[in-house]
Amino acid sequence: MRQTNTERLNPHVVSIPASQREAVLSAMKGKDSLANLASGNPEMAMPPSVISRMQAYLQEGYASYSTYYGFDALRDGITAKMKNDWSVAVHSRDELIVTSGVQEGLYIVMRTILQPDDEVIIPSPHYGTYYQNTLACGAKPALVPLKESEGFLPDPERMAAAVTPKSRAIVFCNPNNPLGVVWPQESLEAVAEVALKHDLLVLVDEIYRDYTDVPPVSVAALPEMGSRTFSFGGFSKSHIMMGLRIGFVAGPAAPMVQVKKMHYCVALCPSVLGQIAAQAALDCPEEELAAVRDHFKDKLEFLYEGVARLPGVSCVAPGGGFYIFPNFSAIETDSMALAIRLIEEAGVVTLPGSEFGRLGQGYLRLSVCAVETDVREGLHRLEKFVAARKR
Ligand SMILES: Cc1ncc(COP(=O)(O)O)c(C=O)c1O
Repeated sequence: MRQTNTERLNPHVVSIPASQREAVLSAMKGKDSLANLASGNPEMAMPPSVISRMQAYLQEGYASYSTYYGFDALRDGITAKMKNDWSVAVHSRDELIVTSGVQEGLYIVMRTILQPDDEVIIPSPHYGTYYQNTLACGAKPALVPLKESEGFLPDPERMAAAVTPKSRAIVFCNPNNPLGVVWPQESLEAVAEVALKHDLLVLVDEIYRDYTDVPPVSVAALPEMGSRTFSFGGFSKSHIMMGLRIGFVAGPAAPMVQVKKMHYCVALCPSVLGQIAAQAALDCPEEELAAVRDHFKDKLEFLYEGVARLPGVSCVAPGGGFYIFPNFSAIETDSMALAIRLIEEAGVVTLPGSEFGRLGQGYLRLSVCAVETDVREGLHRLEKFVAARKR
C-alpha cells in the first residue's frame, strides 16, 4: 500500500536511534531526593562579568538579528583566542563562524562534507551526536574501539584498519566526553598520520579544553593538518553558558563557504544575547574562571578516587572535563539495567555507557556537574549499593 506523506519520512533520520536518556528520565519521574551524577549541565551560575554585560544589553531593549556568521568583533576575538591558547591559525574571517553551540557546528559541517554511503570513523565509546549526525547524512559510522586497558587512547593500527575507500572523516572530542581522558600529542599525531595518509578530514570537538591543567594540543596545530581539520569550540562549558547556545567552528576556507550556506539554512544567525555574553566571556577576568575550573577539578578528583576504590569497579583516571567512565561489568553487564536499578534502589542517577555506543556496554558515565553535596551523596550511595551487592 502506498505510504502517506506523514508515514514516508526520511529514512536516514528515522534510522537515528532513540536516546537512552529518555528511559533514565522516565525512571526518575516522581522520585525526590535523587543524587544526580548524570547531568552534563553544570549547576553553577555564569561568571559575574558575563551576567552584568547581558543585563546592560537587555536594558537597551533590542534583540535584532546579527550578521549571519556572528559579530565580526566576536569572530576576531575567538580567532585571537585560538591563536594564543590553541596555537591554531585562523587566517581570515572566511575560516570561522559562530554557531548555535558546537551542536549546530557539528551538524552543518557533517552535512557539508558527507554524502550518502560515505563512512565516518568514530573512536568509541563516543559522544552520541557524532554517530547521529553521520546517520542523518545517510553516511555510515565506523566505530573504532577505544579500550580501557589502553587508557582509552586511540590505537593507530586499529584506526588505519577501519579506513576504506569510502572513509571521509574522523570525528572525536578532546578532552573526551564520556571517557574523561585527554589524548596526548603522540595520540593526536598518530590520528593525523592516518588522516594524512588516507586523505581524511578531521573534526575535533574541543568544548572541554578549558578544564585541563595543561591544555590539549589541537590537531589543527599539527603540521599539514590546518587544511583538513575542523576545530569546534564553545562557551557552554567554559563559561557555564549552555542555554545561551554559542559555539564556533574554524576550518579550511573553501569548505567553510559551503558550511556557511548550511548555517544560514539551520540557524540564520546565532543568538544576539548569546553573542553579547560570549564577548564578555572572552573579556572575563582570569580569577572568575580559575574559581570555576578549580571547583570542577576538585569534584572530579574526589569522585574518581571514590569510584576507583569501589570493589569490582575499575576506572581510567580522568585528564580533565567533567566525566569519568567506570567499568561496572563485574556487577552488571547491562548498563541500562544498572542505571535503572541505581535510580530505583540507590537513589542515584547515572548514564548507561551504552548511551555512548555499543562499546560502552558495561560502563556508566558519571559527571560532576551537580553541586558538591550531591556529588558526595551520589558517591556515598554508589558505595552502599556496591557493598550490598557484595554480600
Ligand atoms: C562533547 C560535546 N560536544 C558538544 C556538546 C554540545 O555543546 P554546545 O552546548 O556548544 O552545543 C556537548 C554537550 O554536552 C558535548 O559534551
